[in-house]
Amino acid sequence: MARILINTAAVVAIGCASPALAADLATGAKVFRTNCAVCHSTGTNAVVGPGLHGLVGRKAGSVPGFSYSAAMKSAGFAWTAEQLAKYVTNPQAVVKGNRMPFSGLQNRSQAVDLVAYLETLR
Ligand code: HEC
Repeated sequence: MARILINTAAVVAIGCASPALAADLATGAKVFRTNCAVCHSTGTNAVVGPGLHGLVGRKAGSVPGFSYSAAMKSAGFAWTAEQLAKYVTNPQAVVKGNRMPFSGLQNRSQAVDLVAYLETLR
């Protein structure tokens, strides 16, 4: 909660409307290492899950050769920062029936930082 307040203050201080600009990339990278790296590479190779290189803008369930669930393959959207922010906090709410074994981050501020980090994987 304290972090959310700090981020909000930073946004107000620099007079910027986009919370993404106040996100902390170092924290995002750490959140990734702690919660995602066991299953996802930041490159193109699959681990347990598909590689996340070039994730933002990519159609969901579209890495060639990765064996996605039917739910992910037919999700029918391309990943945006907004979709990812929802997905990392509640994967089943975004792609119902997907088989990613992760229940979601509880901390919204960490989710914002994580998504900012995911956007750098291009
Ligand atoms: C225990 C393993 C595991 C963990 C932990 C995990 N994932 Fe996944 N992830 C998967 C699997 C498996 C899939 C494929 C799901 C499917 O096909 O339904 C997936 C799919 C995804 C996708 C969709 C990719 C695409 O090509 O459309 C995204 C985005 C994603 N994960 C991000 C994350 C992030 C960010 C984290 C950390 C917060 C995370 N995952 C944590 C295993 C994991």
